[in-house]
Amino acid sequence: MAVLNINGRKVLVNADPDMPLLWVLRCDLGMTGTKFGCGVGICGACTINLDDAACLACQTPMSSLHTQKITTIEGLQGAEAQALKAAWIDLDVVQCGYCQSAQLMAACALLKHKPDPTDADIDEAMTPVVCRCGTYPRVRAAIHQAAKARKS
Ligand code: FES
Ligand code: FES
Repeated sequence: MAVLNINGRKVLVNADPDMPLLWVLRCDLGMTGTKFGCGVGICGACTINLDDAACLACQTPMSSLHTQKITTIEGLQGAEAQALKAAWIDLDVVQCGYCQSAQLMAACALLKHKPDPTDADIDEAMTPVVCRCGTYPRVRAAIHQAAKARKS
């Protein structure tokens, strides 16, 4: 048994120490907003925030989790998240949507650490999240728009 801190709530889970967090979220807790893509740390679809840093849930075993703050797309809140969601809608970023939970989680972690990111900062932070629909230019524009909205 382990107690996880997920989206501001203490959650009791019973999972093998080697079990990746991704499966606990999706299968045990029914939180399917975090997506499964490759399962081997390549696609970024499973990106969550761990203590406000972007993290791959498929590469995070239960044994590594203690008191860290886990945030998933279901609990993504706060000023950065609000600005990002508004920009995402305004610029119509989403295409099929499969990667978009991860895009928002990675973007939120970026803005928390770099409130006014450059294109290079954005590319570096967002590259781990693959988008097969090629929404990269709109993702980048939306992050800039959200950063600008946060400053005004
Ligand atoms: S599912 Fe985790 S990186 Fe692809
Ligand atoms: S919006 Fe379709 S994979 Fe990114």
